[in-house]
Amino acid sequence: MAAGLGTRMKSQRAKVLHEIGGSPLIAYVVRAAQALEPRSIISIVGHQAEEVERAVVAEVGELASFVVQEKQRGTGDAVESARSVLENSDSLVLVLSGDVPMIRVETLKKLIEHHNNTGAACSILSVRLENPTGYGRIVRDNSGAFRKIVEQRDANDEERQVREINSGIYCFEAKALFDALRKVEPKNDQGEYYLTDVAEIILASGHTVSVYLINDPREVSGVNTRAELAEFENRIRRSAIRRLMIDDGVTFIDPSHAYISAQAQIGRDTVIHPNVTIEGKTVIGEGCVIRAGARITNSRLGDNVTVKDHSVIVDSQIESNCSVGPFAHLRMNAMLEEKATVGNFVEVKKSRLKRGTKAMHLTYLGDATIGERTNIGAGTITCNYDGVNKHETIVEDDVKIGSDTMLVAPVRVGARSMTGAGSVVTKDVPPDTLVAGVPAEVKKKIRRS
Ligand code: UD1
Ligand code: CA
Repeated sequence: MAAGLGTRMKSQRAKVLHEIGGSPLIAYVVRAAQALEPRSIISIVGHQAEEVERAVVAEVGELASFVVQEKQRGTGDAVESARSVLENSDSLVLVLSGDVPMIRVETLKKLIEHHNNTGAACSILSVRLENPTGYGRIVRDNSGAFRKIVEQRDANDEERQVREINSGIYCFEAKALFDALRKVEPKNDQGEYYLTDVAEIILASGHTVSVYLINDPREVSGVNTRAELAEFENRIRRSAIRRLMIDDGVTFIDPSHAYISAQAQIGRDTVIHPNVTIEGKTVIGEGCVIRAGARITNSRLGDNVTVKDHSVIVDSQIESNCSVGPFAHLRMNAMLEEKATVGNFVEVKKSRLKRGTKAMHLTYLGDATIGERTNIGAGTITCNYDGVNKHETIVEDDVKIGSDTMLVAPVRVGARSMTGAGSVVTKDVPPDTLVAGVPAEVKKKIRRS
């Protein structure tokens, strides 16, 4: 269920699109669902449906399908909107809320196991809370058997004393669920169709309803406010960092000032300095050093890579023994092969620097392929954009590009050639040639021993 706006977030954005650790809340939930290897994952969308759909597809791809709930008339109505796709499916339906990101796969597995073992038509995941305010309560009879769920605002004084709450996570037999949904009425304080009423209806129709009580309340707590969002961010971050330190042998100079996504993988003996942000599915190898203020998003780094202070690396790949930064920017599939070096104030966009190549200072390389052992002088720019189209620059192996060279693409510089300082290269340069000037002209063939 992911259709609600989430009024208490006081936001224009749908609640499930708010992010923790660089991923939207909904991503955590569908990721947990995916790990159960379900036949399909149906998301009920409403507010910002398209954006929510994109976030889900990004996570689980083809497994995803969507049902639109035009008007948000309650959780019962939300599930009702999936009737046509699920009613006759003869399936076990696991219902999750898009705003409960900490739920663990193991817990969901146990709920399903409990559901199957008890032969229930409906199983409810519950937990006891010190302070159950705001949640639906699990009401049991004197023998302890389940009777109904009652929402906080509809509960009487006695029911409000109950500490056992409904997590909002359930397992249903599809047929029993959709039969019961027909009988749900919006007779409550909010005038909404409550999914929680289904449990009582299923019970009255003679089926078994079971409750699976778990111990860790944090796992099933929902994000309802910005304050909770920040708390979750903190918690997920801490546990990711702890796992990296304890299980994977990563050093954090200051774990309380590192921002690491739950999906990141980092190798042994890598050192993470303060205020580093690592987002998305980033993989970092062993023995790397990531200096203060760097941000690395959805990228792959090999072993023994040094990323110096305040570098930004997005959707890029860096092989082993490379050095980047300080203040470097790699993006859109930048690719550094082994032992390549990118220094300060260098931007690399959609370009490949082959083995051992260096661009040390104040350079822009866009849509370029730079050969092996080549040196790109300070201030070099690939002029890749003519105002309409982007063009490619190719620099072959063992080239020396002089300081402040403008490479006006499309252009190719042949192997072992050189450009003089300040050259504006508008025509291809053959191998073994020195060019210089504006526009650059051939000065001489370079003889090499
Ligand atoms: C719900 C439960 C409550 C439980 C709590 C646990 C009901 C009536 N109450 O309350 O017993 O203790 O979760 O967190 O179900 N949604 C839709 N369409 C709608 C309404 C909601 O898709 O019309 C989605 C929301 O986007 C959200 C989820 O359902 O992801 C839960 O809705 P929310 O309004 O947060 O329910 P609670 O009041 O928290
Ligand atoms: Ca909620």
